[in-house]
Amino acid sequence: MYRTHNCGQLNIKHVGQKVILSGWVRKSRDLGGMTFVDLRDRYGITQLVFNMEKDAGLCGEARKLGREFVIRVTGEVAERSNKNPRLPTGDIEILVEELEVLNSSLVPPFTIEDETDGGDELRMKYRYLDLRRDVVRKNLELRHRMAFEIRKYLSEQGFLDVETPVLIKSTPEGARDFVVPSRMNPGEFYALPQSPQTFKQLLMVAGLDKYFQIVKCFRDEDLRADRQPEFTQIDCEMSFVERDDLLDVFEGLARHLFRTIMGMEIEGAFPKMSYTEAMSRYGNDKPDLRFGMEISELSDLVKGKGFQVFDAATYVGGICAKGCAVYSRKQLDALTEWVRRPQLGMKGLLYVKYNEDGSLRSSVDKFYGEQELKQWSELLGAGPGDLILILAGERELTLKALGELRLEMGNRLEMRDPEIFKPLWVVDFPLLEWNAESKRFTAMHHPFTSPYEEDLELFRTDPGKVRAKAYDLVINGVEIGGGSIRIHDEEMQKQMFDNLGFTEEEARKQFGFLMSAFRYGAPPHGGIAFGFDRWVALFAGIESIRDAIAFPKNNSGRDVMIDTPSTISDEQLEELSLKVLNQSSE
Ligand code: AMO
Repeated sequence: MYRTHNCGQLNIKHVGQKVILSGWVRKSRDLGGMTFVDLRDRYGITQLVFNMEKDAGLCGEARKLGREFVIRVTGEVAERSNKNPRLPTGDIEILVEELEVLNSSLVPPFTIEDETDGGDELRMKYRYLDLRRDVVRKNLELRHRMAFEIRKYLSEQGFLDVETPVLIKSTPEGARDFVVPSRMNPGEFYALPQSPQTFKQLLMVAGLDKYFQIVKCFRDEDLRADRQPEFTQIDCEMSFVERDDLLDVFEGLARHLFRTIMGMEIEGAFPKMSYTEAMSRYGNDKPDLRFGMEISELSDLVKGKGFQVFDAATYVGGICAKGCAVYSRKQLDALTEWVRRPQLGMKGLLYVKYNEDGSLRSSVDKFYGEQELKQWSELLGAGPGDLILILAGERELTLKALGELRLEMGNRLEMRDPEIFKPLWVVDFPLLEWNAESKRFTAMHHPFTSPYEEDLELFRTDPGKVRAKAYDLVINGVEIGGGSIRIHDEEMQKQMFDNLGFTEEEARKQFGFLMSAFRYGAPPHGGIAFGFDRWVALFAGIESIRDAIAFPKNNSGRDVMIDTPSTISDEQLEELSLKVLNQSSE
């Protein structure tokens, strides 16, 4: 027998019992007459004691134990004289009578503690050691509990978990595909799904009515803290629903997770905010509602006073940073540099200080008098002690930059409390977005998203203004999920492809199977997909989704543990009828 209990289980009630434990040596301390060993497994840590006086031989064995050795011990549970209230097992220790080394270990390349000395790359290379750390393992436990509750809620709502294929053809989620060559069909390739989008729609045509799947998706795109090349979606689709029916069901899912996982009730219905409103108030289509500091447009108030920067701009707007009038010249210069970074591309930053004594000072004093500055302050809700930050330029760019500046100031002022959760639905996204590179409109979500009937006329006059029946679930500034009501009519789908500049031939080649299916009685339907890794990271309170995933890739898309991507043999290439033109230097 390897164990009667695990390392997180024993407490004062077990004193006097004989037990067997197995686990890893976290660390050992040799105090002359006594040797103490912390034994670790998934469930916790238990202190072992080896007594020199009782059994010198055994104590000698214990002194030879290295970090991460795997051992089995038999002994008696005893009350500790020096209790550790931070450990659930902190009241007891095991007086060891027998010790067996089940396996030795090399010295680990970093300390396996919550605060480790291992950098990211090293942790990823030895991920199996990293996962022994409490803080990382806890995220996987959270992920498991969330997956369980998601399955439970959706099953109770009548959703069927249906698996869809992984070797498919290109899906239109806007990223590049990962492709897999076919040996049996030389020169032909499968694409890995960017999402099961087309399949879930086919399942609705098939009459399955309510579908879900917790499923791997693959996208070849630039990676960031919240993006992995393979990630997991909670993918869902429903038939015979209008937008609000669907949002109700998935607001229910979110509430179920908040309740069962976080022990929290979110008060009131989740707010619904249009894309246009989100952009003008927060400069962002995923607003963080944990704090105010909303953006206000100042264009009308400031133009026509001879200040060239404002006069030339298509948009002037500002935010009010409470209590920041004390910002020094140096701090303001640093903020100016911050907005000038190429990511934001602003030319400069203007400010108004509303001093505690009621006086107003600004970087545009030459053009605007105290009366005007007061007017701006009123609009922005600024009072004594506050600092107004103003940006001017092209409308969209400036709004986005103000949105980023708002988040930055929110961070500096510690207004983004990780213990608070503010969900909302962002709705009515534009159907199309202008792609400056290819000089044409592309689908903002994907080409199966339904437009509002009342906007159809705009296709001819102002396609960028057509609104989609699309929605995102946003929590604390993170896009957790997105979906839409679909087009279920063949004619409308054809028209949409046409608007997106697909020729009939291209549309048929890529999506002919779906258009054919729509001829056989497609029900009205809609769906949504949530980024599962993002949701876990949000609940775990971690910045990057990497630690919500057991074996993630690094920022260059590599798995440094198994060392992939990697080359394949000439035989394999030949079998696949492939020739490599540019060998990577990796
Ligand atoms: P979308 O492309 O918005 O929609 O994706 C849904 C959600 O998946 C998450 N997500 C990602 N998470 C980690 N790494 C990535 N690279 C990544 N890309 C996306 C986000 C996002 O909100 N088929 C549609 C859904 C639908 O219309 O039903 C789709 O995939 O949290």
